[in-house]
Amino acid sequence: MISEKLQKAREYEEKYSAFITEGERPLFHLTPRIGWANDPNGFSFYKGEYHLFYQYHPYSLQWGPMHWGHALSRDFLRWKYLPAALAPDQPYDEGGCFSGSALELPDGRQLLMYTGVRQFLGQDGSSQVIQNQCLAVGDGLNYEKLPINPVLDVKDIPEGFSKADFRDPKMFPSPEGGYDCVIGNRTDDGSGAILLFHSEDGYKWRFVSILDRCHNEYGKMWECPDFFALGGKDVIMTSPQDMSSLGVEFHNGNGTMFLTGHYDAETHSFERENVQAVDYGLDFYAPQTLELPDGRRVMVAWMQNWDACGGQPSAAKWFGQMTVPRELSLREGRILQLPVRELEAYHGRRVSYLNIPVREEVTLRGVYGRTVDMTVTVKPMSRGSYKRFQIKVASGSQHYTSISYCPESSMLRLNRSHSGFNRDFVHERECFVKDRDGEIKLRILLDRFSVEVFANDGEQAMSATLFTPPTADGISFEAQGKALISLEKYDIDMRP
Ligand code: FRU
Repeated sequence: MISEKLQKAREYEEKYSAFITEGERPLFHLTPRIGWANDPNGFSFYKGEYHLFYQYHPYSLQWGPMHWGHALSRDFLRWKYLPAALAPDQPYDEGGCFSGSALELPDGRQLLMYTGVRQFLGQDGSSQVIQNQCLAVGDGLNYEKLPINPVLDVKDIPEGFSKADFRDPKMFPSPEGGYDCVIGNRTDDGSGAILLFHSEDGYKWRFVSILDRCHNEYGKMWECPDFFALGGKDVIMTSPQDMSSLGVEFHNGNGTMFLTGHYDAETHSFERENVQAVDYGLDFYAPQTLELPDGRRVMVAWMQNWDACGGQPSAAKWFGQMTVPRELSLREGRILQLPVRELEAYHGRRVSYLNIPVREEVTLRGVYGRTVDMTVTVKPMSRGSYKRFQIKVASGSQHYTSISYCPESSMLRLNRSHSGFNRDFVHERECFVKDRDGEIKLRILLDRFSVEVFANDGEQAMSATLFTPPTADGISFEAQGKALISLEKYDIDMRP
């Protein structure tokens, strides 16, 4: 049964998304069908296709009562919209259907678990929130919320843990059979914790252990947890709120991190070995991963910063985009990320240059565009021959975004101060990128409204939204001193 609320959302999105032309969206990054999107949800492979749901408020460009939007793809790059999957239409989720995940049941149906939010006035007149976990079962198009909802509520969490912050269930097949699920929570010290739950059948869940907790070290509440194995290690991925900056590793506000270590299946405990930021750019939050049938672990995130949501272009018809889905791998204790290899199928016109000396600002014939996959390697002509190297992208008479590197400090910097934003939020971030025998390699993805930079085969990633006018499609290179660059650039061509 499709509720009135869901029907209304479906009619609305169908009617109004028709007014968005193709050029008003990114070419290969997913945006909401209409209105607002935040976190990716329910990233899954089901009936031979990839499903990606998202936190969705179709009716405005602001966060509002959360629905789940829905899109489908065979290759992570060409997306087809499906009708909205969930609306906040039950007493236990009337405050919103918050983030969650998906898995396939043995009977071939798809199970969604999401956080149902209840908001009400307390006896003293203050606003109270309760978050609990709910299920919906469906066929990849329509989903039925179950009468047993909520399946996890305050009774299921340890004494002293928060009832108001208990959200974002990520389910996955358990190594012991049945299913496991990690959920973000807040503990008695006010900071985050990740709780582990188990179920034999996907319907009945029980608390197992506290997998890890923040102890006020990395921000406060830990949102959107994920837990998976990668290259012989176990990895918790989470998005902490209210972080304080820590060197150039973590910035203030909402951050993201990988906790790499070992999970002990006997004691259900996790021992941390390494902590790493997921993305060092300006816009990246709430990532979620999926294991593909071929064994790859692919991650997608909301390419947006909560504190910068006021930076919407005045004529926008959608707001909030997803990153390019990225393959994760582990090398020497660090998690690396690169765009899914499926992108190569859309490599169009190719331009390449080998060992070009660069001093003052130059442009190279054929190197321009706003839907581009470009890899640039930069090295000094001789030891110490350059102090700073800069690539300008989305560049025009009044605009540019700068990606620059200083070999002495090993700092890679992304600056979009001149990209056309007229709001005073943060526009520059930097991260540490170690050269390899003096050389650094930057893969830069441009897609109309964003830039994503992958340094040294994905050792660091930096993502940012750009709302620069599309006519600013220049790319230039310059060095303080002398540098040698080689480059390979493809236009992204999605024509069938
Ligand atoms: C993260 C988040 C989640 C929550 C959702 C609500 O961006 O705050 O914790 O489920 O957004 O839209």
